[in-house]
Amino acid sequence: MARKIKYEFDTEVFNIDELSKVETTLVNKAKEALKNAYAPYSDFFVGAAVLLDDGSIVLGNNQENAAYPSGLCAERVALFYIGANHPGKTILQIAVAAKPKNATEYVQAGPCGSCRQVILEYRNNQDQPIDLLLVQPDNEVLKMEVNNLLPFSFNKNSLIK
Ligand code: THU
Repeated sequence: MARKIKYEFDTEVFNIDELSKVETTLVNKAKEALKNAYAPYSDFFVGAAVLLDDGSIVLGNNQENAAYPSGLCAERVALFYIGANHPGKTILQIAVAAKPKNATEYVQAGPCGSCRQVILEYRNNQDQPIDLLLVQPDNEVLKMEVNNLLPFSFNKNSLIK
């Protein structure tokens, strides 16, 4: 008979007041970053703030395009900037905040599949975990390790040279 394998992972839900000082800063930076999103087509504003091991924080926001598929999500804007400008630095945490235009409340925006794949590429290149801090409505933040985001993901081990 076929074996069954169950995949489970832990997620913590924090009230914004319960976050550490560094995490609070990172979440606030993500909220700030979304204000500079270029999202005239979706009117959906996403900000990402990525904490590196030297304490620096890199921001990204979604950058859309009239040719829709040419646009890029906030997470990948930040991560590719890090790849280009801080190669080899360890990524510690990624905070993501999202708000539709004119909304008063943040909404959950879990990273899309492509962003998960990109996040894992960087995660697989370092020993240290990367925590994702996902801003929720009602002043809550979900926290999870990015390793859990994309089971059965493609990775470089399959690319036999
Ligand atoms: N978007 C992000 O930037 N990050 C996410 O996690 C989800 C979606 C962007 C892409 C597009 O500009 C807009 O949100 C609507 O899909």
